[in-house]
Amino acid sequence: MNKKSIRSVDVKGKKCLVRCDFNVPMKEGAITDDARIVAALPTVKYLAENGAKVVLCSHLGRPKGTFDMKYTLRPVAERLGELLGKTVKFATDVIGEDAHAKVKAMHDGDVILLENLRFHKEEEENDKEFCRALADFCDIYVNDAFGTAHRAHASTAGIVQYGFAPIAVAGFLIDKELQCLGGALEHPTRPLVAILGGAKVSDKIGVIDNLIEKANTILIGGGMAYTFLKAKGLQIGKSLCEEDKIQLARDLIDKAEKHGVKFFLPVDVVVAGCFPTPIDAEIPHRSVMISEIEKDDVALDIGENTVKLFAKEIRSAGTVIWNGPMGVFENPIFACGTKKVAEAIAESNCVSVIGGGDSAAAVRQMNFADKMTHISTGGGASLEYLEGKKLPGIECLNEE
Ligand code: 3PG
Repeated sequence: MNKKSIRSVDVKGKKCLVRCDFNVPMKEGAITDDARIVAALPTVKYLAENGAKVVLCSHLGRPKGTFDMKYTLRPVAERLGELLGKTVKFATDVIGEDAHAKVKAMHDGDVILLENLRFHKEEEENDKEFCRALADFCDIYVNDAFGTAHRAHASTAGIVQYGFAPIAVAGFLIDKELQCLGGALEHPTRPLVAILGGAKVSDKIGVIDNLIEKANTILIGGGMAYTFLKAKGLQIGKSLCEEDKIQLARDLIDKAEKHGVKFFLPVDVVVAGCFPTPIDAEIPHRSVMISEIEKDDVALDIGENTVKLFAKEIRSAGTVIWNGPMGVFENPIFACGTKKVAEAIAESNCVSVIGGGDSAAAVRQMNFADKMTHISTGGGASLEYLEGKKLPGIECLNEE
């Protein structure tokens, strides 16, 4: 995809409206993971250093179109200022008086962050007049919100689609995501090994379907593995199973076989008598081969033999794409499979691309982040990209 980059436009003295994804996790008003803010720094720095007036906008959470202090972006402006080493002004509204007054007073190189876009219901409705109002801050529109690129909202797509943004370019983060995710999908160093996990088959059908056409090997773990095992006629006890997806799981196994793709499911697992509630509960558990799962067992992690099997494939991979944990990794008892898979990727010489969401969180929590080639900032967006879907926030940008 050849989208115009900020490097190819003259930004000096121009108001650059930059859509970021600052939807960061918060606890009691404090940011608990600033990875998405850090990821926006190259674009913000470049624009400021090249004399643009940098007007940043983002959503945070899902406040449903009303002002709610719980979702204010003020802590993000503060953190961004610390990371940039310069003041980031904060507008207490989005298209109101405060935003207008503060943007009007900007000098070249200044940075300002507008309040949460989703305090206006018009943002998610992709309302034309809201797009027009946002465009008051826009000589050049820069989309750097990869994590929100799958949403056709006012600030991610509408402002360009309605013709209000004279120039619409991709920021460095979107560039990098497309290069890494796109590169791994379209021209990977082979063999390409895709590791897919997470709770539900239904969330990953499109991804598995698309990856069967591109990968050499697919490794399935996490809650969704049990629907596949049941589809193969195995006893899975009370493990997660989407009964209405069993036929589909069979079809995917058949498709993989037709395409000559090696398709691995767990051969052993760690089981408990129930799902751990609360998540950090110390519950009795045991390791069993798949054929030994009993009728009341709930499988919550892949076992040691599966880890060995998966690690062997990972060691010989040219490229690994990983999306979704191998078990209930939030509980240390069932985190081993996810950790060992992360370790195997970290130790391998392959190009490693980690889809966002839970797998990215797991890799960071287990301190393997700096060993990976790329960790996507997109959860839903990276999933849709891996499914082969077109993302409206990227599609709308100018071609090079
Ligand atoms: C995300 O966290 O996946 C993005 O910020 C998009 O958020 P949304 O699912 O609320 O649109």
